[in-house]
Amino acid sequence: MAEQAFDVVVIGGGPGGYVCAIKAAQLGLKTACVEKRGALGGTCLNVGCIPSKALLQSSHLYAMAAHDLAQHGVKAGKVELDFKTMMGRKDKVVADFTKGIEFLFRKNKVTYLKGLGRLVGDGKIEVVANGKGETVSAKHIIIATGSDVMPLRGVEIDEKQIVSSTGALELEKVPEHLIVIGGGVIGLELGSVWRRLGAKVTVVEFLDRIVATMDAEIGTAYQKVLTKQGLEFKLGTKVTAAKKANGKVTLTMEPANGGASEELTGDVVLVSIGRRPYVDGLALEMVGVKLDNKGRVMVDDHFQTSVPGIYAIGDVIHGPMLAHKAEEEGVAVAEMLAGQSGHVNYETCPNIVYTWPELASVGKTEEELKSAGVQYKVGKFPFLANSRAKANADMEGMVKLLADANTDRLLGAHVLGPEAGTLIHEISMAMEFGGSAEDVARAFHGHPTLNEAIKEAALVIASKPIHV
Ligand code: FAD
Ligand code: NAI
Repeated sequence: MAEQAFDVVVIGGGPGGYVCAIKAAQLGLKTACVEKRGALGGTCLNVGCIPSKALLQSSHLYAMAAHDLAQHGVKAGKVELDFKTMMGRKDKVVADFTKGIEFLFRKNKVTYLKGLGRLVGDGKIEVVANGKGETVSAKHIIIATGSDVMPLRGVEIDEKQIVSSTGALELEKVPEHLIVIGGGVIGLELGSVWRRLGAKVTVVEFLDRIVATMDAEIGTAYQKVLTKQGLEFKLGTKVTAAKKANGKVTLTMEPANGGASEELTGDVVLVSIGRRPYVDGLALEMVGVKLDNKGRVMVDDHFQTSVPGIYAIGDVIHGPMLAHKAEEEGVAVAEMLAGQSGHVNYETCPNIVYTWPELASVGKTEEELKSAGVQYKVGKFPFLANSRAKANADMEGMVKLLADANTDRLLGAHVLGPEAGTLIHEISMAMEFGGSAEDVARAFHGHPTLNEAIKEAALVIASKPIHV
């Protein structure tokens, strides 16, 4: 049979890869997408964003019913956990979504090649499935193979007692004591899920703070809120070994700066210390695609690797490991290949932790501005003084805006509070248009909305707030 020839072959069907493939096909390029996991959607849909958000939502409703409804005068009777239904709903959400992408591929005429993609040089890719290989050719190849769990020496993942995020989304019952290694996004989201469902949760973090890349002031406030919810933190601590015995796991830990070791025993340990770029099996060395010192595929401003005609996007290259970042890069590279001017503005990429309250940020933190010597103004407004938050009985947290002291241009926003992940897009959009604090302060904000907290924080910078 003649070798299939494409304009574009994308390797990896995650948010970077599948979005890129659809966009390329929409722009008239003959496109295929190679995926090895047997389902489209990548980490995000199958074992990441979507199942974690499904469990966050279900566990949030459970916790609300158990603890919060009474204050609204709603008597729910005895609240019980139907664990099987909760986990089953999550699985159904995932299954529906992955099938939805197959439909979008058919609709947009993207060829779905099931199997492991391997570069064999000369613009050719071998796709291996069930022991059989098929070679296809492409004018342009896009590597979108994503990332995988970062292993921790001495703590071997078995996905039952010592789990990665994948195993933590599939636990067979609520553990009595979950120990989370790593106080980052995964640890706090999944730690919250299991805490709400009744587990004791201890987070062991190497640094002396959680969510280390977020604004420090907001990070401190966030830790206080999570502590109130029952999460326990052991900061400045490193785990050196794990031992399994009698259905339990005992971790050996010591202070990050050195000192006496101690032990901590739990039923399940979640290893969430970051993710590593995934290039296994691609045979990049065969064709000369170069990696940087962190194992990421090196690309130029046009996402081209060290080999002309081979591009890379998403978690496998530099930048935040976020689904929307991978998607934007996928669109940009497809546009460039179609002769358009694709562009990604990383300055306005939001970062959201979907606990409750949510934590969201965009742009620079106060620490980053300080160390860059930028003169800035700060506007803060607590949800305690926001009428909608009060009406909703959801008053934890605050909005913090940072604007250039000379030009008033917005430089960053950090929101801890209800719907922070939705609210942050107001500032993300304002920043996209080069907006100032005064622009936000003068813009209509419907009353009563949570967004008014953003307007008030902008008013702190632009003139004076009304409601504090
Ligand atoms: P991936 O989604 O990792 O997709 C890569 C795909 O390539 C995979 O399906 C893989 O099977 C396939 N592949 C790899 N090698 C080959 C090969 N040689 N041949 C064929 N196929 C191959 N981000 C957010 O923005 N919001 C969130 O809420 C969020 N939640 C998350 C929760 C968890 C638990 C985790 C783990 C991650 C979460 N992320 C979230 C991060 C997000 O999942 C990633 O940033 C995103 O999936 C990256 O997209 P990608 O397309 O670059 O790679
Ligand atoms: P992370 O980088 O967010 O956090 C890892 C944490 O582990 C850091 O605080 C780090 O200091 C700590 N750590 C590192 N080594 C350690 C050690 N040996 N012992 C103790 N602590 C240690 O990584 P995480 O949470 O694994 O998430 C991976 C990626 O997935 C993130 O980059 C994130 O972008 C993405 N993600 C995004 C989500 C979202 O957007 N809501 C949700 C989940 C994941």
